[in-house]
Amino acid sequence: MSVAVKGWPSLAAIVLLFALMGGDPSAALGSPPASSDIAAFLARHWQRPLAANGPAPGNFSALEASLSPAACGACHPRQFADWRSALHSHAMSPGLLGQLQAMGPGARDRHQACLQCHAPLAEQEDHLVDSLTAGRMLPPLADGASAADGLTCAGCHVRGNRRFGPPRSDGTVPAADAQLPHDGWQATPAFEDSRFCAACHQFAPGGPGLNGKPFENTYEEWRESRYARAGVSCQSCHMPQRRHLWRGIHDPKMVRSGLTIDAALVSAAGRVAAELSVANTGVGHDFPTYVTPKVEVEIAQLDRHGEVIPATVLRRLISRDVSLDLTVERADTRLRPGELRRYRYDRARDRRAAAVLLRIRVFPDAFYAEFYRATLKDPSFRTGRAAIRAALERAQASAYQLYDARLPLPARPAQPGA
Ligand code: HEC
Ligand code: HEC
Ligand code: HEC
Ligand code: HEC
Ligand code: HEC
Repeated sequence: MSVAVKGWPSLAAIVLLFALMGGDPSAALGSPPASSDIAAFLARHWQRPLAANGPAPGNFSALEASLSPAACGACHPRQFADWRSALHSHAMSPGLLGQLQAMGPGARDRHQACLQCHAPLAEQEDHLVDSLTAGRMLPPLADGASAADGLTCAGCHVRGNRRFGPPRSDGTVPAADAQLPHDGWQATPAFEDSRFCAACHQFAPGGPGLNGKPFENTYEEWRESRYARAGVSCQSCHMPQRRHLWRGIHDPKMVRSGLTIDAALVSAAGRVAAELSVANTGVGHDFPTYVTPKVEVEIAQLDRHGEVIPATVLRRLISRDVSLDLTVERADTRLRPGELRRYRYDRARDRRAAAVLLRIRVFPDAFYAEFYRATLKDPSFRTGRAAIRAALERAQASAYQLYDARLPLPARPAQPGA
């Protein structure tokens, strides 16, 4: 896909657009009256920018006082190991950092338009400003809150030095006189509720979007699905047994778990007729939910060496395909929860054809790759260039093959008279 760089909005304009996405995305979400306590808790919990935690209580050891994920990990090793393997821990990515560098150290409000989701602690903002001023990512501060840690344990669990979390999974409660580290925790069912995730995975109605759909609409897509009615939350699929895994479009196993894919040869008498069906049988929202990935379906004839015969290729996208400046939605071919789509192929058989290929490839960061390429073509974009170059490499490297079937065609009948 070629990008018209002329007339392409400057990075500043894009950043502004993201800034518009700020505000309080959770505030306007519909909430059933019975769960208004949860709604009230979440409105407080996710009131951004988050307030600084301030000095820890005097009875806390240095380990309990630290906001560093590694410190939490000393006592919660399983959550720490899972979190480190998940994208939440990599949310201060080169693609984000390059844009923050371009904003400069003084632009705290503009940083917050991004950090409120990517690295939300006030202590991380301070560390980011110091790092941008120094021109390099500084080592973590004494209290352990590093901007480089992205979305940390404390970002979700700590406010005013108090721990918040779900009730114990076995339903018991700590004894009243229990001497727990960090003075225990305040238990709330809000952590088991999908609205907890909506704080960052849903824009408010009227927020930036196209054709009546916000650019981030995951919670609403889920709410309209049978999963919401059956009480299957975001956590049920993304945090099984409370594990901190959060696998998504970047993980082939997770994506396969949500789809049912079938390939069949329909008939081949002089023609090649085949069908690939893709059903969203286990994704709790649209597949894929965001405008940023592209999923490509490809059906083609192969020669006897297994090479694609170029003139025979059929390609279709499963995506919400928007222009780079986010002003035009070219197509929305995503699969709704429960939806089945059949891709039919029926073409004359190439004389070299020996098999038919049916495959699906996933480009999790397709939109970002395009955006970085356009940004690097802009000669006035200087600060942050190295980071954006690294981000482009990462965005291209995340592509993978989801599905690949090669069905042999019957041998051609011998030509009469040959
Ligand atoms: C010195 C060890 C220690 C450190 C350090 C520590 N914790 Fe804990 N944490 C515990 C213990 C012990 C419990 C109580 C578990 C229980 O009794 O069920 C607990 C409970 C929790 C709970 C509630 C668990 C539940 O069942 O809902 C959360 C959430 C939590 N800690 C988060 C954190 C975070 C975030 C950090 C770092 C900022 C942290 N902890 C640092 C030991 C620690
Ligand atoms: C994106 C937000 C988020 C981040 C980041 C996060 N957690 Fe959690 N954590 C949750 C949610 C949500 C639950 C409850 C899941 C559920 O009930 O299904 C939870 C549950 C827990 C529990 C209770 C586990 C249990 O088995 O009962 C502990 C302890 C905990 N987290 C510690 C941590 C630690 C330590 C880190 C960092 C290494 C961390 N969390 C990072 C959201 C987060
Ligand atoms: C404070 C904001 C915040 C909260 C709360 C939050 N997330 Fe995220 N989440 C993010 C950001 C930012 C990313 C992108 C990280 C990156 O790649 O830079 C992300 C990425 C993800 C991904 C990976 C997507 C992929 O591309 O593979 C999944 C899955 C996910 N989140 C699920 C959840 C679930 C489930 C919850 C609720 C338990 C949740 N998140 C809560 C901010 C948040
Ligand atoms: C409302 C929460 C939210 C806000 C605000 C937000 N992001 Fe994100 N961002 C996400 C989520 C969720 C993802 C992962 C899903 C995706 O790829 O679209 C993401 C992904 C990204 C990615 C691609 C993955 C990576 O980390 O390389 C970049 C780059 C990025 N955001 C930059 C920004 C910038 C720059 C801003 C501020 C101008 C910003 N974001 C504001 C939630 C947010
Ligand atoms: C029934 C299981 C299920 C439920 C419920 C569910 N998801 Fe997912 N989710 C998946 C699967 C499977 C994928 C991988 C396929 C994909 O990327 O769409 C995924 C992908 C994602 C991604 C990756 C981004 C993308 O473009 O696809 C994010 C972010 C995400 N989910 C967040 C959420 C949030 C937030 C909720 C709750 C509002 C939620 N999910 C509910 C199964 C589920």
